[in-house]
Amino acid sequence: MKKIITIVGARPQFIKIPLISQEIRKFAKEVVVHTGQHYDANMSDIFFEELGIPRPDYNLGIGSMERGEQIKLMREKIKEVLVKEKPNLVVIYGDTNSTLAGAQAANQLNIPIAHIEAGMRSYNQEMSEEQNRVESDKVSALLFCSTRSAMENLTKEGMTKGVFLTGDVMADIQKKVSGDHDQLSILEELSLKSKEYILATVHRQANTDDETNLSNIINAFNQIDETIIFPLHPRTKKYLEEYNLKLSDKIKVIEPLGYKEMIILEANAKLILTDSGGVQKEAYLAEVPCITLRNETEWTETVDSGWNQLAGAETQKIVELVKNYPTPKNHPDFLGDGEAYLKISQILKDYLKI
Ligand code: UD1
Ligand code: UDP
Repeated sequence: MKKIITIVGARPQFIKIPLISQEIRKFAKEVVVHTGQHYDANMSDIFFEELGIPRPDYNLGIGSMERGEQIKLMREKIKEVLVKEKPNLVVIYGDTNSTLAGAQAANQLNIPIAHIEAGMRSYNQEMSEEQNRVESDKVSALLFCSTRSAMENLTKEGMTKGVFLTGDVMADIQKKVSGDHDQLSILEELSLKSKEYILATVHRQANTDDETNLSNIINAFNQIDETIIFPLHPRTKKYLEEYNLKLSDKIKVIEPLGYKEMIILEANAKLILTDSGGVQKEAYLAEVPCITLRNETEWTETVDSGWNQLAGAETQKIVELVKNYPTPKNHPDFLGDGEAYLKISQILKDYLKI
């Protein structure tokens, strides 16, 4: 039986794997490697439980540290697993340090790599994620693109072989869980009424590790005269404390949520404020206007259609957009038909000649 090693490590990756994992297991042996980049129960275990993802076969327990050191440690430990398991293919997801470590490890051992969510670009070279994506794409044999613009980005960089437009695996799972109403109690628990609150997430390095940017964002939140639900990423928690930033009573800080609860909170929000890649996409699919707390986005179609406005970390711009959000223009489907995972698995199967 052919063997596929799936490498994950951070929250968005746990959400990308369940549907593909289910398919892969119909025709190959899958071994899941968790690098341990995220380790808090509500940043990791919760997703395995609620999405029924098979427990990782290996947890490398790497944890938090400086990026270069982290990638190096992950790469060496992943290589040990690859040498032992001898897979026919390695599958990597997205753009985190775990993605790049997996790409480097497999590449150094000449094992073919499939990259899911390939071709995304912000063209901001300072972002760790941009460096991770570009380097991972370069060494991948199979590049699965969520959007047409991702395909075009790869073409511009001369990558045309092994490139497939499949749609987006996060859109697939969102469609599947959006019908679940068993999580609606989260609205009651937080005493919220549908469309009467704003949902906010912040975790990008450029916004958290820079005191001016984080202060500007929190100043904007403090000036908004509406309830803001703010599930707090551990990175942001650390810096809010370090900079001693105070939040108004209108801002309800909560622990990071499970995925299904998050999807419900997004769908019922009046507006979403975020610097997350995944949350921008989810806002679009839920047809909830989004203000992105960055100066650029990889999901350019959300901006082109008017459902996403880029505000960076500029206080007045954020406050003004919350008050006067321009009416979105149209809502084209650009993330696929909800079956990206089936297309990807079929291509993997063909590639492995199964
Ligand atoms: C990482 C990814 C980012 C992704 C995000 C998803 C990189 C370069 N960044 O950013 O692309 O959008 O995950 O959430 O790979 N921490 C905890 N507990 C945890 C995890 C993290 O306390 O379980 C804290 C630690 O203080 C750590 C900090 O959060 O230093 C940042 O974690 P890290 O994984 O380095 O980056 P993220 O900001 O989570
Ligand atoms: N998410 C979640 N709970 C939270 C915040 C986010 O389940 O408290 C989900 C969100 O719905 C999306 C994914 O995590 O599916 C996005 O991950 P994140 O924002 O951490 O990273 P990014 O997408 O920016 O890489």
